[in-house]
This record gives sequence, C-alpha cells and structure tokens, in this order.
Amino acid sequence: MSRTTPDYMQLIKKEKLPRHIAIIMDGNGRWAQKRLMPRTFGHRSGMNSLKQVVETCCELGISCLTVFAFSTENWKRPRDEVNYLMNLLVEYINKEIEELHKNGVRLQVLGDYRSLPEKSIKAIDLALNKTAANQGMVFNIALNYGARDEIIRAARLLAKQVEEGLLAVEDINEAAFSRALYTSGLPDPDLLIRTAGEMRVSNFLLWQIAYAEFWFSPLLWPDFNKQELLRAIWEFQQRDRRFGGLKTNGQEGHHA
Ligand code: FPP
Repeated sequence: MSRTTPDYMQLIKKEKLPRHIAIIMDGNGRWAQKRLMPRTFGHRSGMNSLKQVVETCCELGISCLTVFAFSTENWKRPRDEVNYLMNLLVEYINKEIEELHKNGVRLQVLGDYRSLPEKSIKAIDLALNKTAANQGMVFNIALNYGARDEIIRAARLLAKQVEEGLLAVEDINEAAFSRALYTSGLPDPDLLIRTAGEMRVSNFLLWQIAYAEFWFSPLLWPDFNKQELLRAIWEFQQRDRRFGGLKTNGQEGHHA
C-alpha cells in the first residue's frame, strides 16, 4: 500500500456493510493482451483476483457475493477460450472447495449449468452438495447466466404454478417473482461492481439490482484486489440511499 492510499479496512463501518455484493469481472482479455499474452492468461490471473475477493468478503462477514463468470452470450467466443474457461472453473472449484467449506461458505450457481461440459457439471454438483448446509456467506457463481433468460424462466415457473392451480394470478407480486428467480431467498445486491471501465450492466441481475449502488472501477479484473474491494465498499458507504423516499438524516431508509 502506498503512503497516500487510505486504510479502507479501518475506515469501513462494520455496521453498514452491503449485505450482497455483485461483481462483473471484466478486462481479463485486455490485461493479457497488454502483456502480449493470450487472453486465457488473463482469465487465469483473474482467478487470483476472485480468490482475494472471496476471502475478503468472508473476512468482513458479507452475507452474499455474486460473480459473473460466464454469460449466455459468452458461448460466442472462440472454442478454445470457452474450453479454457470451463477447465478453469473445474480447477478453481477443486483448488478452493476445501477452503470455502472450512469458512462456512455455501456455493450456489445462478444459471443453467446443466448445458456445461460433463466435467464441469460433476465438479459443480460435488461442490454444491458439499457446501449445501453451510451457514456462512452465500457465494453465487453466475454460469451460463443471462438476466432476461432468468426472468423468462421465472415467468414460466409462475405460469406453470397457475396452470396447475397452485397459485392465483392475484398472488403474483414482487415477492413471488423474486422467489422464482435463481437468487430466491437472498437479499438483492446493495452494491454492483464492474471493472475495466465499462459502464454497462450486460444482462446481469436485471431484476435484483433495482436499488443497487453501482461502482465502476477502471482496473482490469486481474488488477482488482483486496484494497480495491475495500475502497468500493467504503465508497458505497458514502452514498445516500433513499430507495425512492426522502433523506433520513443519517438513519437507514427502509430496505427495499
Ligand atoms: C471478462 O473478461 C471475464 C470473463 C468472461 C470470465 C471471468 C472469469 C474469471 C475471472 C476466471 C476465473 C473464475 C472462474 C470461476 C472460472 P473479458 O475476457 O471479457 O475481458 P476483455 O473485456 O478485456 O476482453
């Protein structure tokens, strides 16, 4: 840490932490290309940033972390890159699962991971089963995930329940819709972070981020680290969240 960098760990108010942090990990390819290396090298390096972020969230006691690892659109990438990402996912799970489990982390996948390669499905299922009863941080990895896809899936689930007479049309409300999403039972993200200077949402958690605060970091994902995460959280704590209401003189507004 340089002399001028504030010690965000000291500055952060532990009683005002975001309950749920969502991250769009962007810039792996650019990070590698800047070093004249293949894009896959950036993904490998990005895995270390992810490790730091997960550890820091556990250390702080964040309830829920969601990362965008592979979108429904990422299949359009060259086959080699897609294969590399799938293998990296298996490697990540194999390397980290014991540590995650020890820390009480409950791993979840957002997205239809059944269409991933067999090896990935096996590793995911093992990790999900192993950590299913854990009571600590919920760690969601969005894989083959797209928010519009998720919303359509939820609409179909609810429609099916209506068709089967299990749900009345009048009972379809925000709470029922939220329960039909992959993030069922979890608080909505309070803080959405995107790296690499891109300022878009790219079909990520469209329903859930209705009241999220956004933090855009210019750093490429492999350069993102503990200090940057702490800074994002500190910046989040400086925001005045009103949830459509009025300023509450430092008191918490209602939680949407
Ligand atoms: C975006 O960078 C990143 C991804 C599409 C994949 C994210 C994957 C990791 C962080 C690797 C480790 C994690 C797991 C769980 C496998 P980009 O390739 O879009 O970068 P660019 O915009 O510079 O091209």
